[in-house]
Amino acid sequence: MALAMGAWRRLGSLQHVATPVILLLLGSACAQDYEPTWDSLDSRPLPAWFDEAKFGIFIHWGLFSVPSFGSEWFWWYWQKQHMSCYVRFMKANYRPGFTYEDFGPLFTAEFFDANQWADIFEASGAKYMVLTSKHHEGFTLWNSKYSWNWNSVDVGPKRDIVAELAKAIRSKTSLRFGLYHSLFEWFNPLFLSDESNLFKTRMFSFTKSLPELYELVTKYQPEIVWSDGDGDAPDVYWNSTGFLAWLYNESPVRDTVVTNDRWGQDCICKHGGYYTCADRYNPGHLLNHKWENCMTIDKKSWGYRRNAKIEDYLTIEELIEQLVETVSCGGNLLLNIGPTREGLIIPLFEERLRQIGSWLDVNGEAIYSTVPWKAQNDTATPGVWYTSKPDDNIVYAIFLKWPPAGCISLDQPYAYVGKTKVHLLGYRASLKWIALGKQGMMVSLPQLNGAQLPCQWAWVLKLSRVF
Ligand SMILES: *[C@@H]1O[C@H](CO)[C@@H](O)[C@H](O)[C@H]1NC(C)=O
Ligand SMILES: *[C@@H]1O[C@H](CO)[C@@H](O)[C@H](O)[C@H]1NC(C)=O
Repeated sequence: MALAMGAWRRLGSLQHVATPVILLLLGSACAQDYEPTWDSLDSRPLPAWFDEAKFGIFIHWGLFSVPSFGSEWFWWYWQKQHMSCYVRFMKANYRPGFTYEDFGPLFTAEFFDANQWADIFEASGAKYMVLTSKHHEGFTLWNSKYSWNWNSVDVGPKRDIVAELAKAIRSKTSLRFGLYHSLFEWFNPLFLSDESNLFKTRMFSFTKSLPELYELVTKYQPEIVWSDGDGDAPDVYWNSTGFLAWLYNESPVRDTVVTNDRWGQDCICKHGGYYTCADRYNPGHLLNHKWENCMTIDKKSWGYRRNAKIEDYLTIEELIEQLVETVSCGGNLLLNIGPTREGLIIPLFEERLRQIGSWLDVNGEAIYSTVPWKAQNDTATPGVWYTSKPDDNIVYAIFLKWPPAGCISLDQPYAYVGKTKVHLLGYRASLKWIALGKQGMMVSLPQLNGAQLPCQWAWVLKLSRVF
């Protein structure tokens, strides 16, 4: 099965010479390719767009954005763990007997403008986005048939958030549209009953989670299905391989969809599409499988928190560093923001996103569509990270601190006099350099004052013809 698919992919590059008849035959030959087993599903090549994209935006939005206190795990911390700060917060600010469900009507979204979000995401330089269509609270941001009266069309804004955002992203930007979906729901009685049966019954997964997933994919055609929240249940309980076989073989997005690795207990970092391994995963070395670093501007929460302090937000320097390290090591960065209950992306998040975009405007060629080089970071100068475009014979050395001496030594490249050329992205003239023995080079940076620097936060040396 996998062989047939591989052959089809190789033929894909000949599409422009193939006749439509041949393409049709190939198309039908490769339908039904994957079997509902991890061996078969894991053999599917990841659609190429994902690795090329490198940078996406994650959005955590839901009823937890109403209290916007502590964390998106508000309900759990308050009602299950009875954590004192949550209990005190509720006592001090809400009437006695107030339930989590009562947050529903307060999720107003009156300032939610999907077009405005789309503009901000486009300006950030991101190539895809992933929205929490449903978090562990179970509240869906679309009018799911399987979430009656617990969704954003019946309750709160009375709007189909997923539909509005999908439309804006697709009509106004070049980003791919992706959806996060939580398999389990903290307090759903069907889930709790299956759990107490040690997941030998599958009431919740078969009447709630799976139908919801099929509905989401069929209705909104997300190109990323970002699964989460296995609830410590095995993938057999979630029927994950069955769903993924449908997704890859028959669904409307079968050719372009990518998924992650959170499809049941013990799947993470092992099975599925690309690996996420853990929240904020950033191994600092190369992996032999595509991976994604999902992290969040607010260090302590994914959902919006009104009680965040300024030092809880990562600085633009820290964010660029995350992006650069991640891409050098073969990962994608999925950067999270939490909108407010009114539907606003607060100016601090917007500023960070626009700053990344302005950095990418100058330096994006060292990020998008690059591949890891033989070395990921430099041994002589800490904080230098490499990416490459082997077909063009180019290596990018991205440095996170402007060296006070005005020159930078690189241990890893072999440079050749008369052949190697060095440029600073955003600066016109080529730079002088000298070889340091057989391997290694010293590059003289232009003597510039701050205002003349091509951009702040990190800089890119473009090395042509090094080895
Ligand atoms: C569960 O997976 C099997 C294949 O293993 C598939 O035939 C069946 O349709 C799936 N059921 C659901 C509800 O996804
Ligand atoms: C960078 O390179 C050095 C030396 O090769 C290595 O020890 C270090 O772990 C690497 N990673 C980071 C994150 O600095």
